[in-house]
Parts: sequence; C-alpha cells; structure tokens
Amino acid sequence: MRKPIIAGNWKMFKTRDEALQFVYNVNKKVPSKDLVDSVVCVQSPVLRDLVKRQGDNLRIGAQNMHYLDSGAYTGEVSAPLLDNIGVSYVVLGHSERRAYYNETDEAVNKKIHQAFRYGLTPILCVGESLEVREAGETNEYVKSQVVKALKGLGKSQIIELVLAYEPIWAIGTGKTATSEMANETIKAIRDVVANLYNSETAEAMRIQYGGSVKPANIKELLSMSDIDGALVGGASLDADSFLELVNAAVK
Ligand code: 13P
Repeated sequence: MRKPIIAGNWKMFKTRDEALQFVYNVNKKVPSKDLVDSVVCVQSPVLRDLVKRQGDNLRIGAQNMHYLDSGAYTGEVSAPLLDNIGVSYVVLGHSERRAYYNETDEAVNKKIHQAFRYGLTPILCVGESLEVREAGETNEYVKSQVVKALKGLGKSQIIELVLAYEPIWAIGTGKTATSEMANETIKAIRDVVANLYNSETAEAMRIQYGGSVKPANIKELLSMSDIDGALVGGASLDADSFLELVNAAVK
C-alpha cells in the first residue's frame, strides 16, 4: 500500500507573517503522518521558522536547490543548508523552473542525487505542454523526462522519492486533466520505471498528480488506481482548503 502524500507548493506567495499564521492554523489539525504525508513547500527565507513550528504531522519543503554543496552561485540555496535547518522535502524540476530558469533534465538529475546525499526527499516534477499533448506525444515526452531525471538512482531511492505528474496546461489554469487522463499518464510513468528497474519498484513508488487540484476534485483524482496524492498550488494557500485536501487523502 502506498501512503498518500499531499504537498502544497506555495510558489512565490505569502509573507513570513502569513506563512506563520497558516502553520499556526493547521499544524495541530493535519491528520496523522501514519495516514497521509502532509507537506508545504515554501520560499527559502521562511523555511526555518516553519520547520520550528511544524508539529508532529506537517512537514516543510523547499522549492528548489543547487546540486553543489557550496560555491560562488549568487542567489542559490544549498542542500547542506536545507538539511541543517531541518527541511524534509525539496521540489525539483518544476515546470516553472524549467521554463523560466532554463533548468535542464541533466541539472534535475544532479539535484536529485544531491538531495539524497543530504537526506532530503525530492519531489520530482514532470509534465507536458498543451502542444505536446495535442500532438499525441505526451507519453514519449514524459518518458524522456523521467528516464533522464532518474539516471543513476538505485531502487531504494526510487521508492523514497516522490514523482509529481503536472501537465503544464493544467497548472493555474483551472483546467484539470480528467482523472482518467491523469491516471493513464501516471500508469505510463510506472511502466517506464518498471522497465528501468522492476515492477515491484514501480508499484511501490509514489506518484502525485498536480494541476488545478482543489477540494472539489481531489477525491475523484485520489480514487484512481495509480494516483497517490497531489502537488497543489493555489488551493494549498488557504488553511481550510489545505486541511480539506489532506483530510480527503485519509482512507
Ligand atoms: P495549481 O494547483 O495552482 O494549478 O498549481 C499546480 C502546481 O504547479 C503545483 O506545483
């Protein structure tokens, strides 16, 4: 049985005061981590404040990091620092970073290896544009992203990481992929992993769907055979909405 995981990706939203208020409102109300993993991925300057207040069941994640330990890379954040301040997760390869900061599959692969070196759980994002979907090339495109991102990883790492399938055309647009569509692509990702490793590894790996997930559609998405959770932007910003999402994942 794969434990569901709901992760909020706050992107570049919330001040420190707003972030603290959110955690104050939810941290005693999130369900037990034995039932669902509940995570919020936040801007770097508030990571430490939120880790200190995360409580027993909420975990805090970063939204990016560099693949080197240290160096002259102005504006970047290192894995040793994230580890040092108690961060649990890190989102890697989000389509916004790929699009606006030229993040390549090769860099994403290096970042995943680096996250594991420091005990951080990567949330690896993949997903196609509308153009790719309409050309009927979704599975091939996503397969290539997955193969390149996972290069050199062992089976135990595959089982530990979290993969998020986020079709770009469904992000922030209000257009959710139908649950069948999302499930079909996620199944195709599992097939890729089964071919690269074996079927036990593919079955054990957790794969989220992301793109306009909200309390109104989460149940249906999670009822699908291969969807193990959600990576949520807009609907994770409000405390009540976040609590509805994590509670919906409790079986
Ligand atoms: P929305 O839920 O706002 O569509 O964002 C999805 C996303 O990009 C999460 O990483």
